[in-house]
Order: sequence, then structure tokens, then C-alpha cells
Amino acid sequence: MSPENTSVAVQEALEIKHEGRSVRLPVVRGTEKETALDIGQLRSATGLITLDPGYANTGSCKSAITFIDGEKGILRYRGYPIEELAEKSSYLEVAWLLIHGELPTAAQSREFTAQVTRHTMLHENFRRFFSTLPKDAHPMPVCAAAIGTLATFYQEPESKEHIQETIVRLIAKMPTLAAYSYKHSLGQPFVYPRNDLGYTSNFLHMMFSNPCEEYEVDPVVAKAVDLLMILHADHEQNCSTSTVRLVGSSMANLFASISAGISALWGPLHGGANQKVIEMLEQIDAEGGDVNRFVARAKDQKSGARLMGFGHRVYKNYDPRAAILKRACNDVTRRVGGSSRLLEIAMRLEEVALKDEYFVSRKLYPNVDFYSGVIYKAIGIPVNMFTVMFAMGRLSGWIAQWLEMRDDPTFRIGRPRQVYTGPALRHYAPAAARG
Ligand code: CMC
Repeated sequence: MSPENTSVAVQEALEIKHEGRSVRLPVVRGTEKETALDIGQLRSATGLITLDPGYANTGSCKSAITFIDGEKGILRYRGYPIEELAEKSSYLEVAWLLIHGELPTAAQSREFTAQVTRHTMLHENFRRFFSTLPKDAHPMPVCAAAIGTLATFYQEPESKEHIQETIVRLIAKMPTLAAYSYKHSLGQPFVYPRNDLGYTSNFLHMMFSNPCEEYEVDPVVAKAVDLLMILHADHEQNCSTSTVRLVGSSMANLFASISAGISALWGPLHGGANQKVIEMLEQIDAEGGDVNRFVARAKDQKSGARLMGFGHRVYKNYDPRAAILKRACNDVTRRVGGSSRLLEIAMRLEEVALKDEYFVSRKLYPNVDFYSGVIYKAIGIPVNMFTVMFAMGRLSGWIAQWLEMRDDPTFRIGRPRQVYTGPALRHYAPAAARG
């Protein structure tokens, strides 16, 4: 589905006048009545550019993939509510939906699963790649590097068929790379994928089995991982997705673009927040469980502390993914029999923050990262793997967005402008003459 089909220029236009020049800029509207001023002619007609730090007011593209209404707390992939997909679908089905625009037929689903299953193994030379890394390397930069390194193993020229193959390879090998990066950090032997297991079960097997002991995959745990991956699969033009698009806009290949997206995701204001949330909850626990003290610290902007897992650029209401995860937290911790201590602290923290004027007036609600870490922790995922889990889920969204960008007839290299604030023209002086 081309993004061009999903938005129409309406009759309405706004006139901008500047230093005797003027332009009428069309107002475009998306399927959900999102409205934007198309400034494509602004600079050539008036000399003006726009200035928008953090791009809070800037639409970088038209997209038919994901819809968010941040005021109402709505998230849909290709029109399907996240709540329905979370309840009824599976990650591989959602990946297909994001990439191809429609849910797969039963035959497409079988074929896609079979292809992904066939491509899970890594080239044996990958062992040497891992062996060059420090033993305590964080799995996020390892994954970013490993995905980039895949480009050196698959160097075919880019064609439509080759891109489809690359997509399957990426989805198939990402869990293997993720599990290997964890095994490397433990100093344990890598565990080969098993073709008789489903996508998330296979990941858990590679994470937790070792040559001396086979890990028996608990279907409840596999289902929880699948749910988390569905919820993380796409989120329109966030920091890492915009990175993937920007890198891809230079015609860099898919491996390189995804590798850049993983690096962008790592930061604590983005995907890295899930690790920070659990560290925050553990710190509160270690300090005696007083959530009020932590909320007071997060409100004091001089302290530099933030309530991790709270707030969002787009959601000014409860993040629907957080709502689903909060419910799942209860189920999962009950079924796997883990400690519910961190969940209790998280719920108390949320309760206090949601009644506090500071958070209420700024419309700061729990985001997806607030409860995801509690589930990861309950099912035994190590803390330094949390953001890798996010990346595994987001992979399909990055791919879909990269493909959409490449297929867009209005596609151009991404190249923002700036307002220069440095020195005006001056001339070089020899070192001896510099005061
Ligand atoms: N704790 C305390 N104060 C906060 C928080 C927070 N978590 N988030 C925002 N604020 C305050 C901020 O200080 C500012 O106050 P003021 O208007 O008085 O200066 C106001 O709320 C607006 O914040 P902002 O930083 O301008 O908002 P933003 O849209 O630029 O940033 C955010 C969004 C997600 C980076 C931010 O809310 C944050 O740092 N949250 C904590 C980190 C986090 O949980 N990130 C995960 C985001 S969801 C998953 C993902 O995208 O990966």
C-alpha cells in the first residue's frame, strides 16, 4: 500500500508572506483527520525554513503503517487496534501485517514461518566475531554491530527479491544474534536454534539451554515474550524508526539501517528506559520501598532524576501498551510464581504519580517501558537484555518503515536544514598573530 493513497490534499491552504514574497501552502489530511501544512514550497517561494527542535511539530513522511492518537491513547497497526492484535495474533503474523499491509492468509503464514525457521542459523564465522568482543560487552551494542556485520556475509546487489530475502534473514537471525550476545556475556557456549520450536520458544531455548542441560520452554513464558514483541513491533516515527529511515534514505542497505536503529533505541530516553525502570524499582526497594521519596526526587528538576517509564512525546493519556502490560504483569507473575515485589512497587509508584499535580499537569502517564521490565524480570530475562528484547520486537516495524520509504514516489534523501548561529565571516590568521 503506497503512503500516497492514504492522504489527500484538501482545498484549504494557508498563505505565508515574508519580505514581499508569498506562498499558499496546502493543508493535507490523513485518513484519521490528522492535519498538516505541506511546506514543500516554503523555502523556494519565501526563503523561509522551519525551526523545530526535537521535531515535535514536524511530520517527516506520510505513512500507512501505524496510527497513534496520543490524546485518546489509541494505537493501531495497519488499522487494527493493538488490543485485538495483542489478544488474538502472534508476533510473526504482526510482522507480516506491518511489512505487507494485510494479515497473512493461512498459506502465507505457514510459508513465512517456514522460511524464518529455515534461516535462523548464523554463519559459523560469526563465532569469531563474538570472540573479538570484551566478555562483559553490553548486548545492545553487540547486536547493533552484529546486524551491521550481517551485511558483510550477504553482499548481493539490492533487488526486490534480495530485499525480501534480507527481511527473512533479519527476522530469523535477530533472536539468534540476541541470544548469542547474551551467551557471550556469560562465557557460555552458543546454543544452536531448533527448527521444531516456535519463534519465541526457540529464542528462549537459545538463551537458556546449555550443552549440559536443555531448558524446557514454558508456554506461558513464550506467550509473554510474543505479547511483548507484538506491543513493541511499531510506533510510527519515533527516534529509532526515524533513524532507520534517515540512514536508509542515503540508499544504505537494510542491515546498515537497522543497525543504526538499534543504536538509537539503546538510549535511556527511548528503548533503554526499560532497563532504567527496573533499576529504579530495585533502588526504591533497596531504599526501603518509599515511592514518595522517589516521586519527590523526579519532580525536582535540579536533581536530574526522572520517573523512568513515565511520559511520552505523543501520548498525553495512558499508553495503551502499558495498560495491556499492566494486566499481563499480574497474570505472568502469578503463573510463573515469581516475586511480585517489584510489581507492587511499580503500582504504588504509578498511583502516587497519577495523583500528583506535577505529573497530572504535564500529562505524564506510564509508557510501555514502565511495566515491560517487571514481566521480563519475572520470566527470567536478564536486565541487560531488556532493550534487546525491545529491538527484537521493533525489528519488523523498522523493516516496514524502511520499505515504505523506499517505495514512496516522493522519496528523497533525508537532509534537514539549520539556522546557523556561529561566527560571521572572519579570516585565517597565523598562530603567532592570534591573541
Ligand atoms: N519524570 C519527571 N518529569 C518528566 C518526565 C519524567 N519521566 N518526563 C517528562 N517530564 C517533564 C519534563 O521535565 C518537562 O517539564 P517542564 O515542562 O517543566 O520543563 C515536561 O515533563 C515535558 O517533558 P519533555 O522532556 O519536554 O518531553 P519530551 O516529549 O521531550 O520527552 C520523554 C518525552 C519520553 C523522553 C520523557 O517523558 C522522558 O524522559 N521519560 C522518561 C524516559 C522514558 O520512560 N522513556 C521511554 C519512552 S516510551 C518508549 C520509547 O519511546 O522507547
